[in-house]
Amino acid sequence: QRLVVLISGRGSNLKALIDACERGEINGQVVGVISNRPDAGGLEFARARGIPEQVLNHRDYAGREPFDAALAGAIEAFEPDLVLLAGFMRILTPGFVERFTGRLLNIHPSLLPKYRGLDTHARALADGETEHGASVHFVTPELDGGPVIMQARVPVLADDTEASLSARAQQAEHRLYPAAAGLVCSGRIQWSEPTIRYDGAPL
Ligand code: GRF
Repeated sequence: QRLVVLISGRGSNLKALIDACERGEINGQVVGVISNRPDAGGLEFARARGIPEQVLNHRDYAGREPFDAALAGAIEAFEPDLVLLAGFMRILTPGFVERFTGRLLNIHPSLLPKYRGLDTHARALADGETEHGASVHFVTPELDGGPVIMQARVPVLADDTEASLSARAQQAEHRLYPAAAGLVCSGRIQWSEPTIRYDGAPL
């Protein structure tokens, strides 16, 4: 399976996905990395591994529609089976999402459906949650609202700060995203309008 990963920043999930492919834990390989920010740290990492990378700076486009059209073209050029959003900090237009529905995944730093949107770690702390985590889901036009494939849970500790909690949750993300992507790549979990189908065998 051909995977394309979209990033905006550090790229630690990108790294986890590439490593998992190289270890044979995902039936696929990352064939391209696209960033909307020229300074995304994850681009360095793709370069170091010899994976083609491309920058599509959203500031060069007049709005969401033209940016998403260019983005869709750049993605399709890699002929992907699966498109993975990994810290890609752009809201995507419904037209874009519909074009890739069923082969578009995102990782979100909360136990969805709790805490859609931004600042999830701070909000979980402020609410006195005792448990927090991350979710991998199929992307639908509803922001952070598509069907969840898999979640990772971490405890919230009494002395946690936003930094300590996000560090713990992100470590869990690096196991979660490859595991969820692996299930989709092997066909064990499939998009099945309007939700997902799982083959039912034990994980
Ligand atoms: C992750 O915490 C992910 O859940 C969120 O953005 C962050 C990306 O981190 N969507 P990285 O760029 O993969 O290190």
